[in-house]
Amino acid sequence: MPLTNEDLIIKAIAAREQAYCPYSGYSVGAAVVDDLGQLHQGCNVENAAYPLGSCAEAAAIGAMVQRGGKRIAQIAIAGGRSEITACTPCGGCRQRIHEFADEKTVIIVLDDSGEWQEYTIADLLPSSFHLD
Ligand code: THU
Repeated sequence: MPLTNEDLIIKAIAAREQAYCPYSGYSVGAAVVDDLGQLHQGCNVENAAYPLGSCAEAAAIGAMVQRGGKRIAQIAIAGGRSEITACTPCGGCRQRIHEFADEKTVIIVLDDSGEWQEYTIADLLPSSFHLD
């Protein structure tokens, strides 16, 4: 079942609380509702070997795939250091979202003022890469 944007944001903020980010101090949480109506959450997980760190979106999408979700209906992302600040997905995560998104996918990003913006994948990743 779809969640309201506000409820999905709460889930992303809750996921952010679990972030493991001792190197950047920048916590990110992501919450996904899939095509089956299932909720999946993820947080960033850093590593002393810096490039091994992983993003919140990757964790949430991985959980979705493992539980049989095929498409992202909605995704909310919340990030920041002590406070939540604007955290639009990194380039790699835009491509990760793109893999499971379509024009109806709702991408919710919190901003510095505690408000949120809603995007489509075409907003975030125009002229995107597709395999034939
Ligand atoms: N990060 C995410 O989890 N998602 C993004 O879309 C942007 C960046 C994480 C990676 C790293 O742990 C921290 O934020 C700072 O870059």
